[in-house]
Amino acid sequence: MPTPSIAILDFGSQYTQLIARRIREQNVYSAVLPCTAKIDEIRALNPIGIVLSGGPCSVYDSDAPPADPEVLNLGLPVLGICYGLQFIAHHLGGRVRSALKREYGHAEVDLIDTSNPLFAELPASLHVWMSHGDEALDLPPGFHLTAKTANAVAGMANPERRIWAVQFHPEVHHTPLGTQVLRNFLFNICAAQPDWTPAHFIQATVASIKEKVGDGHAICALSGGVDSSVAAVLVHRAIGDHLTCVFVNNGVLRKDEFEKVQQNLRDKLGLKLVAVDASKRFLLKLRGVTDPEGKRKIIGNEFISVFDDEATRIAEQGGGVEWLVQGTLYPDVIESSSVKGPSQTIKSHHNVGGLPEEMQLKLIEPLRDLFKDEVRRIGRDLGMPEDILQRQPFPGPGLAVRILGEVTAERVALLQEADDIVVTEIKNAGLYTKIWQSFAVLLPVKSVGVMGDQRTYAYTCAIRAVHSEDGMTADWVPLPYEVLKIISNRIVNEVRGINRVVYDITSKPPGTIEWE
Ligand code: XMP
Repeated sequence: MPTPSIAILDFGSQYTQLIARRIREQNVYSAVLPCTAKIDEIRALNPIGIVLSGGPCSVYDSDAPPADPEVLNLGLPVLGICYGLQFIAHHLGGRVRSALKREYGHAEVDLIDTSNPLFAELPASLHVWMSHGDEALDLPPGFHLTAKTANAVAGMANPERRIWAVQFHPEVHHTPLGTQVLRNFLFNICAAQPDWTPAHFIQATVASIKEKVGDGHAICALSGGVDSSVAAVLVHRAIGDHLTCVFVNNGVLRKDEFEKVQQNLRDKLGLKLVAVDASKRFLLKLRGVTDPEGKRKIIGNEFISVFDDEATRIAEQGGGVEWLVQGTLYPDVIESSSVKGPSQTIKSHHNVGGLPEEMQLKLIEPLRDLFKDEVRRIGRDLGMPEDILQRQPFPGPGLAVRILGEVTAERVALLQEADDIVVTEIKNAGLYTKIWQSFAVLLPVKSVGVMGDQRTYAYTCAIRAVHSEDGMTADWVPLPYEVLKIISNRIVNEVRGINRVVYDITSKPPGTIEWE
């Protein structure tokens, strides 16, 4: 039986993932399904409660997201949030209309029914976040008002049917006591047990991988980053040396990375690792190519080809390979088309794409229910070193998308040195784990400088440092001048071939994080 969970039906709110996260923070497992999920799919999650999310549509719109109202009849506790409240009102005989006065932003809510278990341990008046254009005008039969704002219904309930709903968003930080509302739903109403911990997750996942893979063999493409490393260590716990990891040097890794990743994963974590130095092969293919998409394609295709060769070799030696381990995370799953609900924010997910289709391997994705910070917690429980767990994201095409113009061995070496200085100094300043990404970019633009009494004519290096939640939007970081000064001095003095350093102060949008 799967872990008891809270099933969240996604009606397209930008906050849906946040609901899942807030619930997991209470050590209760939760998973998001598109609102179009079939009742059987919902049941398969072994739910002990259901949350209906917010969403941008109106329930009476012809294109309102179609969900099966049967979810209200399963006898499970239901919590409707914003659109979720309107969905319940609309389908159970109440009336929803376009609000005379729309409510967006901060609002005050009066809790009318304080005996309501959803509002236990809360004051009579709540500061909340609203984001809706519709309101419930008439409550459905059997429901009573539990909360209101000056203008509208802010909460309703039908305890006999075990249905509760609020118009505000308890999941966002702008509703300071919102977590208590969610806790009340989980523990007072759904009788959830707070036992979804890293140790529990590891134990359950290892057991299920063991059962699934049995005596079979798996391979994993490692990048040395958090996701693929944690996925590999988990699978290794389950099947030991029946897992072979492949780590490819594509010639555009960071300084000493090929050696460091091997030390970390093979020597410290005991993974069976095949390290392939294919740098010459990649650099040869990249010769003369300046178009960013061209570079990305070449690296992607070449990677598949190298990985394919290795997989064939491993299969020949080890009696077949049927499984491919991938470090897919929860946000990637939500963004992938197979479970796409009506959510508006869809990122084109770059990964070692194309592998499963080409190789006809069955997938093991042990992290597909987790957020990045949860993956780090799991990794810590698995005893993995902090330098792997705290590593900033690094793109698959590596330094190639940070060298504008042609990628040559000489330019890679220059950028590796400059990048190493940036990372070292950001770490020295205690900023590395507070910043989403910080790195150097090589611009093949030469300018004139003077060193000693000598004229120089050399490349420019740009420093990029951004804060971000998920890579989809980003703000440039106002790095302290002292740190910028040290970085600039060190690069110009230590990296022969770069005589000018500039700082990129572009946010995303309109810029992207990587330069190509
Ligand atoms: P952009 O440059 O699109 O990057 O703003 C957003 C985030 O994605 C990372 N990125 C990649 N990651 N393969 C990856 O695994 C890729 O091809 C790739 N391109 C960009 C980037 O580093 C940033 O974190």
